[in-house]
Amino acid sequence: METRILKITAENEAAVIDEAVGLILSGELVAFPTETVYGLGGNGLDPDASRKIYAAKGRPSDNPLILHIYSEAQLYQVTRFLPDTAFRLAKAFWPGPLTMVLEKADCVPDTVTGGLPTVAVRMPSHPVARALLRACPVPVAAPSANLSGRPSTTKAAHVIGDMDGRIACIIDGGDVPIGVESTIVDLTGEKPVLLRPGGIPREALERVVGPVSVDPAVSNENLKKHAAEIAVPKAPGMKYRHYAPAAPLTILSGDEAAVLDRLRQLQGEHTGILTVDEHLACFSKGTVLSCGTRAHPETLAHRLFAALRRFDEEGVEEIYSEDFSDTAWGEAVMNRLLKAAGGRFVRVPAPEGENPVHTEREDCKMIAVASDGAGYALKCEVIKYLEQKGIPYRDLGTDSDAPVDYPVYARKLTDAVISGECTKGVLMCGTGVGMSMTANRVHGIRAALCCDCFTAQETRLHNDANVLCMGERVLGVGLALKILETFLETPFSGVERHARRVRMMEEV
Ligand code: TXA
Ligand code: MG
Repeated sequence: METRILKITAENEAAVIDEAVGLILSGELVAFPTETVYGLGGNGLDPDASRKIYAAKGRPSDNPLILHIYSEAQLYQVTRFLPDTAFRLAKAFWPGPLTMVLEKADCVPDTVTGGLPTVAVRMPSHPVARALLRACPVPVAAPSANLSGRPSTTKAAHVIGDMDGRIACIIDGGDVPIGVESTIVDLTGEKPVLLRPGGIPREALERVVGPVSVDPAVSNENLKKHAAEIAVPKAPGMKYRHYAPAAPLTILSGDEAAVLDRLRQLQGEHTGILTVDEHLACFSKGTVLSCGTRAHPETLAHRLFAALRRFDEEGVEEIYSEDFSDTAWGEAVMNRLLKAAGGRFVRVPAPEGENPVHTEREDCKMIAVASDGAGYALKCEVIKYLEQKGIPYRDLGTDSDAPVDYPVYARKLTDAVISGECTKGVLMCGTGVGMSMTANRVHGIRAALCCDCFTAQETRLHNDANVLCMGERVLGVGLALKILETFLETPFSGVERHARRVRMMEEV
């Protein structure tokens, strides 16, 4: 399908809106700017239009859409019963970035609500959205105009990137002012419940309707707790989490100086760093993007999605971000960032009075290297790297990509490390898992399966890991070599509590 891209100006506004309304009424889809993010609109009363929306986004059809309206009369049209709280919130925040979940009227198709008896309704304030909805005789169902799982779109270029060829028309109204989606509040229960933090802070809602509870599924504290359970990075196959850039994203939280220090250690040519204007000067390598300034926290919301997309454009292999919880927009921004991170949230401890972490490069005396057939190609790259760096190594096989029994090679390598002939070892197979399991059965071996540099660094600092395991099918070569470099260059911290734990590990 050819997509009409219409840049809207004061002169052509009437004609553009006319054309867009015509397309919506004939069952087509039109992307348009709102004050939060771009929306992907279709006739909200036409089940076929919502089917088209799900198809264009690649979104599961049980994830309901928001109905966008122009007038209060339309609110009556699409809902069955309006609690007093709805009137108060509408009066305070509409038009604006607030979505209310209410009981749905029969005229709202099940395809819009994903079969739910409730409907999400919002009256946007962006002048282009207002003009479109005023001219349109039906409510407009509109999710964010991005491919499912990708960051929402805040610039017309992003909408074009995701939707060109998939929908009839894109109205280019420039960058949107807010940058994160509307706040969603459910008013169908006894008390209002926050379903998504967004353009209107919870505290502002509470000033109008009293206490608003937070749905546990969207509580940032729960998203962080969840982190501990799924901190192991996922395979690249699971590229697109919610709002997610292609590269794995990890959020570092804690004492400002400690976080900056850690971020500086993690920066690298293929690494993305998400920081604030105030800290830009701290970094010199890779793709360093500012999400805004803490002095004007609305800038963090404004730039977040564009930054996440920029990392994709730059093709970074991993991303590390500061934590922005401590800002006025923290709840909304961190909700997106935590989802984009798929829960990868790490607390960086404040520097303690204990033995400081020494950072000079550790002497790499002799590195043992081994793989099975599935890890053979990566082993060749690792050896090339060690040769380039002038690091002595022993290649313990295998010698081709033909299938072999990986425990045989894991044993050869652990023998070399335990005997003291080699100081550290690197084991590779398809996923790295079989190798690490085998190696860890040997007393004195502390094998760490690493899929990112952060883990490689932590496992050296805290666990004094002596064998690095990597999966050829999980990692690109560039990232694998960076993990290796981090592993080899990071010394054990020597901090007493970590030393004690390593001793305890050895007693198990
Ligand atoms: O700012 C916004 O709200 C943007 C712009 C375009 O208006 N729209 C937007 O739509 O973010 P979307 O589809 O990306 O997100 C809508 C969210 C989804 O998480 C969906 O599950 C939830 O609203 N939702 C919709 N109807 C609901 C309902 N009846 N009950 C609970 N949640 C609902
Ligand atoms: Mg969305």
